[in-house]
Amino acid sequence: MKRKVLISVGRLSFPEDVAETLSPLAEVIYAPSRDCGESLNEVEVVIVGTEPVDDSYLDRAPKLKLVSRFGVGYDSVDIEACKARKIYITHTIGVLSEGVAEHTWALILGLMKRIPQGDRHTREEWALRRRALPFGSDLLGKTLGLVGLGAIGSEVAKRALGFGMKLIYYDVVRRPGLESEHGMKFAELDELLRSSDIVTLHTPLLPSTRGLIGEEELEMMKPTAVLINTSRGPVVDQEALVEALENGRIAGAALDVFEAEPIPLDDRLLEMENVVVTPHTASATWETRRKMAESCVESVREFLEGKRPRKLIPEMKDTFF
Ligand code: 8YV
Repeated sequence: MKRKVLISVGRLSFPEDVAETLSPLAEVIYAPSRDCGESLNEVEVVIVGTEPVDDSYLDRAPKLKLVSRFGVGYDSVDIEACKARKIYITHTIGVLSEGVAEHTWALILGLMKRIPQGDRHTREEWALRRRALPFGSDLLGKTLGLVGLGAIGSEVAKRALGFGMKLIYYDVVRRPGLESEHGMKFAELDELLRSSDIVTLHTPLLPSTRGLIGEEELEMMKPTAVLINTSRGPVVDQEALVEALENGRIAGAALDVFEAEPIPLDDRLLEMENVVVTPHTASATWETRRKMAESCVESVREFLEGKRPRKLIPEMKDTFF
């Protein structure tokens, strides 16, 4: 009987011709629905989006040996539960940093230049000349504070230099190479929050980063500063953010990720003029999604050929089942 690989990521994100390259090794199935229906029962490999892979999911997949995360973040996968069942986990590290960094800049520019308001004004107001034009702010000379200087954070930093910005970063590890290459200064989180005009988050979601930006941290930011989040929603205490925005404690936010996704349509964040939002699409470009699909396929191929996948998550580097 042929081995089975289940892809529970849509065809738009995971092109069929990429999936097809696995067919000499296994039968490839696209999940019939978001919860995978009965298909989990038979499969040895699953390629997953951000749906939780926890005990109740794994109970439905008795033959599973590999969870291939279609993404770099794997906070949605219960690592201990997988280890206990001898299931490997891979992720698509290294192929989406540039794409996500570009989207981060799209959000920064959209917010600072008030592009959504300008678009609306042009369509609905401009010819009437009744309302003031939506003025924005320049980036030149401003300070960009990066919280997290890993693969994505450093791509965001590189792109800041063209705008003539000052750069500071906070991370649990120092990056002396990047500091000198980009003329960037290290700062403790409090200092970064106090001195940045734009704070942008690039940390994974871990117990230590959950709620990293809460009421106290927002309180430290300048009232003219803005917050950008393309990492994970729960890194920010969303209720505290809503309050900080409503009370003018900070000037604005641009968000690709939320505590609950999809964000409910009646969320207060969606009513605010000083907020720009996108639906967790920082990596959703044709080019990047293809590279992510190819990266998953590469890991799955390695596994099916009996090799050790090179993109195992760091927590499994020393794990051998
Ligand atoms: C994807 C992501 O949107 O890489 C990640 O961790 O959050 C995004 O690139 C997501 O993984 C879709 O499954």
